[in-house]
This record gives sequence, structure tokens and C-alpha cells, in this order.
Amino acid sequence: MKKKFLDLGMQPIANSFVKKTKKKVKKEFFYNLKIGYNEKNHLVSLMKHVNPKIQYTDKYAHRASESKTMREAFQKVANKLKNRFKPSLTMEIGSNDGVFIKNFDKKKIVAIEPCKNLAKITKSKNFNTYAEFWNRKLAKKILKKEKKIDLIFSANTISHIPDLKETFDAIEIVLSSKGVLVIEDPYLKTVIKSNSYDQFYDEHVYVFSLLSISKVVEDSKLRLFDCEKSETHGGSMKYFICKKNSKYKNTIRYKKLMKSEINFGLNKLKTYKNFSFRVKQSKIKLINLLKKLKNKNKKIISYGATYKSTTVFNYCKVGKNYLDYVVDTTKNKQGKLTPGQHIPIISPEKGFNSSVDYAFLGAWNFKKEIINKEKEFIKRGGKFITHVPKVMIIDKLK
Ligand code: TYD
Repeated sequence: MKKKFLDLGMQPIANSFVKKTKKKVKKEFFYNLKIGYNEKNHLVSLMKHVNPKIQYTDKYAHRASESKTMREAFQKVANKLKNRFKPSLTMEIGSNDGVFIKNFDKKKIVAIEPCKNLAKITKSKNFNTYAEFWNRKLAKKILKKEKKIDLIFSANTISHIPDLKETFDAIEIVLSSKGVLVIEDPYLKTVIKSNSYDQFYDEHVYVFSLLSISKVVEDSKLRLFDCEKSETHGGSMKYFICKKNSKYKNTIRYKKLMKSEINFGLNKLKTYKNFSFRVKQSKIKLINLLKKLKNKNKKIISYGATYKSTTVFNYCKVGKNYLDYVVDTTKNKQGKLTPGQHIPIISPEKGFNSSVDYAFLGAWNFKKEIINKEKEFIKRGGKFITHVPKVMIIDKLK
């Protein structure tokens, strides 16, 4: 049974950036974002998920290649996995704009991407792309054309799919007997430790831990044997999974992480209730800080129109009352309004100038990259605001 521990209020779809029109903005879809913990399999998930068909459309905004950090991270992962597992055929579930698959020989990679606008990008580059949702039916269809797959990679996608049984069953169908599935998603312990409650939004149906995912895959005749931390998306974890009877032995990393999760209390509802208390405190602190700065007539903007900041702005009711606009490098976000709070999004060239006193780090997961890029802003007295790991002002380069 899932037990609710956190209520982040009424939220819009995190990536439904709103088109500006002369008329009143069209009525948006809102849902109550509540998070729960399942004591049986330790899964932390949304209490109720949104229909994927209204999320992953041909207007899907996120482009993984937008950031240098991500481009470099995916290239590194691709090379590491190729060296470790030497796959003759690889598949990626959720290939986005091709940031991972571009590191592979076109004949040796299959891409799955249900968002038609994204699939179009990789198809146009002649990558073997299936523009469909991942499920058993698609797995069987693929097996009619391809041989079994040695390496399946999926970053920031499996945690978006409500039906995990269907997902892992479908993976088991196409995975070769010695094959390995590597999934990477935001890591629950980091979310709790760093109070990054904005990792919860409609797309993140789950935030995984080793405890939960190792249990869940067992239902699909799979077995988790290794894990590896990564810095992407503010703290993620890679899980290495094989067929139940495969040769892979549980690694020391696996055993260590399992122990640390239990010591931390990821198997106790109390840990999540404590987190919920800290989230409420974070909201109060952020509003108080913004109020104080506004009272001093400071110009505050936000940096990065992220899905995560959709959660923060709608939970804390931060809109044009505090923020003049949001700057973002993504062309198809520019000229639109943020979901729910309707803050205008403009390009950094237009908006990130000397008139700005404070910039809220909507893209706090790229803190290093952004501060490095915006040295001049800080040098002339500009300051960043973040809420992770706690509400604070950043006014130094290091
Ligand atoms: P992302 O990390 O994917 O977060 P989420 O999954 O919560 O949307 O999004 C980062 C966003 O920040 C993306 O729209 C691009 C933008 N961005 C900038 O505008 N400038 C930058 O320097 C960086 C690194 C990102």
C-alpha cells in the first residue's frame, strides 16, 4: 500500500510551456501532485500519474543536447559501456535528440523515442528509430527485425513510465542471455538529502533507489547486480541489470549502497515524513527571501526554464509577483510562458544583462556550468539564488 507523505499542490504539466496570445491564455490542465511511499517494495512514486499520451507528444520540449555537461556525460557513458560490455547490438529507450546514440555505429544501435518531433531528428540522421512507446508489443515487433540485444541503455526514461512490470517484461523479451540493461535516473537518497523536492513532477512517476528497483525487476525475471553514482540531473544512479540466471555477481558497490540506503532509512516511512517537513520549511524560506529582495526593489529573474522550476514556482506560488522573466537557451521555450505561473521566457542574450540583481537557479543541476559561464555577472555584483541543498544566495565564484 502506498502512503502519502508529501503534497506539492496543484501543478500543470511541467513542460507545457504556454503560447502567448493576445487573447486570454487557454485553460491549462492541473493535477494535485502528491507523493507516496510503498512499504512493500520501497518505491517512491506519484500517488496518481498523468496519461503519458498528453505528456510525450510531438511538442515535447526537452532537448538533451542543449547542455555541454550532458553532451559530455553521454559521450563518456557510451564509451565506458562499449568498453565494459562490448555489445554487438545496443538499444536506447528514450533516445531524445540522439545525444547518446550518436556515439554508436548506426548499424549497431536501435533507438526508441515516442515523441515524434524528437524521433524525426534521429531518423533524419539515419538512425534506426522506432517512434513508439516502449512495451511488450514493440519488443516483439523489434525481434522480428533485429537479433536479441546485448546492451540496453535508458537514461531518465524508465522512471517516467507508470507500468514498470510491462516495461521490464518487454526488456526481458529483447535482452540477449548475456545482455545487460543499464538505467540511469535521479537518485532518491540524493533527492532527500539535498531537499530537491522539484525532482517530483508529472514525468517523474518514480524516484528510484537501489532498494526499490532491485525488488521491482525481480518480477520480470531480471536481477540487479551493480550500481554507479553519477552527477547528472543533480545526482543520479546507474543500475546494472541482467537476466535472472546470468553470470554477473553482485558487486561490492551494490552491497555497499544497499547497506547505506538501509542505514539512511530509505526503508522507513518516517524518513519521508521528515523530508516532507523540510520541504515545507524550504518553501517558507524561499518566499521570505524573495519578499525581502522585492521590498528592496531588486530585480529578480530565473535562470533556466526547467521542468523542476515548474514544481517550485507552482508549489511556492512564485510568479510575476517576484520574477520579471526567465532566461533559457532553448529556442522553442523562448517567447512562451512558464506552465501555471505564466512568467515570460526570453533568451539570455535579451534578458541576462546588467539590470539583473538576482537570478534564481531554475537549472541548479547545472550550477557549475552556469557559474563558470556567468563569471562576469557575479564579478559585477550579480547574485544567484538556489533552494538546493538549502535556500541560499550564491555571490562567489567557488
Ligand atoms: P534540464 O536540466 O533538462 O532540467 P529539467 O529536466 O528540470 O527541465 O533543463 C535545463 C534547462 O536549462 C534547459 O531548458 C536549458 C537551460 N539552460 C540554459 O538556459 N542555460 C544554461 O547554461 C544551461 C546549462 C541550461
